[in-house]
Amino acid sequence: DNIPLELHKVRVVQKLHLVPIERRLEALKEGGFNTFRLNTKDVFLDMLTDSGTNAMSDQQLGAMMIADDAYAGSQSFVKFQKAVEDVLGKKYLLPAHQGRAAENIISRTFIKKGDTVPMNYHFTTSMAHITENGGKIEELLYDEAFVINSKHPFKGNMNIELLEESIKKNGKENIPFIRMEASTNLIGGQPFSIANLRDVRKVADKYGIMLVLDASLIGENAYLVMQREEEFEDKTMKEIIHEMTSLADIIYFSARKLSSSRGGGICTNDEKIYKKLEPLVPLYEGFLTYGGISVREIEAIAVGLYETLDETMISQSPKFIEYLVNALDKKGIPVVTPAGVLGCHVDAMQICKHIPQTQYPAGAFAAAFFLISGVRGMERGSVSNQRDEDGNETYADMELLRLAIPRRVFTLSQIKYVEDRLTWLYDNRELIGGLRFTYEPPVLRFFMGGLEPV
Ligand code: F0G
Repeated sequence: DNIPLELHKVRVVQKLHLVPIERRLEALKEGGFNTFRLNTKDVFLDMLTDSGTNAMSDQQLGAMMIADDAYAGSQSFVKFQKAVEDVLGKKYLLPAHQGRAAENIISRTFIKKGDTVPMNYHFTTSMAHITENGGKIEELLYDEAFVINSKHPFKGNMNIELLEESIKKNGKENIPFIRMEASTNLIGGQPFSIANLRDVRKVADKYGIMLVLDASLIGENAYLVMQREEEFEDKTMKEIIHEMTSLADIIYFSARKLSSSRGGGICTNDEKIYKKLEPLVPLYEGFLTYGGISVREIEAIAVGLYETLDETMISQSPKFIEYLVNALDKKGIPVVTPAGVLGCHVDAMQICKHIPQTQYPAGAFAAAFFLISGVRGMERGSVSNQRDEDGNETYADMELLRLAIPRRVFTLSQIKYVEDRLTWLYDNRELIGGLRFTYEPPVLRFFMGGLEPV
């Protein structure tokens, strides 16, 4: 049955509450049918995200106790720098309080009005920062990326022909950088291959354009390269990660995903790039040796970066995801395949065929799933999309319910509970109705937006 095995033991636990369905309905009404607005006291299994919710190791907690508190020149930051150099192969490091703060700094520094950033696919915050600075994005995946039920091992690959076309059409002077996202989040945590990244690098070199790598999920992408790309099956995690990072001019990451529970950063080997980015760190984040992150968290990031090289740690979440995805797939419940990282992605477009995209099928499915299970997932569909420059709705390519499986947090019986409840909801899917906005914030509307049943 391919049971995933935990290569760790649980030594600190947190009690969970499974509240009655009547209370869950109240909670949904109070929270505008938006799972971001639920309170954890009403949530049984919190599968909203893996961001800041991966389990910390004993080594990380230990390191946090001996952090060096100093406004400037903290030794904790020196450890962070060393870990970034050892694990990501970049010697200049700028700390930022989280991933989107790194995106803010990169976007403000390099994007001018009218610029275009070609990328494999957007992430919500990365797109918002580019458009806030007057730029636009072009998403250049291969068609296969949008096939829900697929066997393609690298759906996160950039379409190289489209990339060349985009550069010719927009002019290389209007392209500040090409962005590649490891384990492409919004299409179901799907990796790119190193062969593809090398091809992107070649195009970047040909036109003299920088390559920026969003490394928030680089460990998982590297693990899937080891599993799926022949050239790398006998390589170590360290070798694979280095191969990836050596191809990028700038790397940034959300440390909330990459290695710990808080923080972020930008790194490069190019001193000129570093100097361009540097002034914005004290302006928006904090002094250059803490960048808005507590020194304790910085210690945990440093240890966590080394732990990213441990295959038994990094494989835990992908293996649990694979187990759940395969179990659902076997029952004919549409999920993104092959299993990716970060979470199990359920295809609400297909399950809620009776709900038009104007009524947010993935949002409706996420709310219904919470109601019948107490499991909180996240809408990754049109609610998470932003309106275009004229204020029109833009409908998402995919309407997904993401059930995040943070590292080393849930047990197999909890995963089986999710499987059981999803099966029930799938069998009773005609009970689910659409939603409409009652409150729509102007930026990143999915976070605090309110909805109601149509
Ligand atoms: N890039 C990627 C690929 C991400 O997945 C995230 C966050 C960010 C950047 C922004 O980082 O949250 O530290 O500011 N993803 C979280 C998620 C929020 O739930 O998928 P942040």
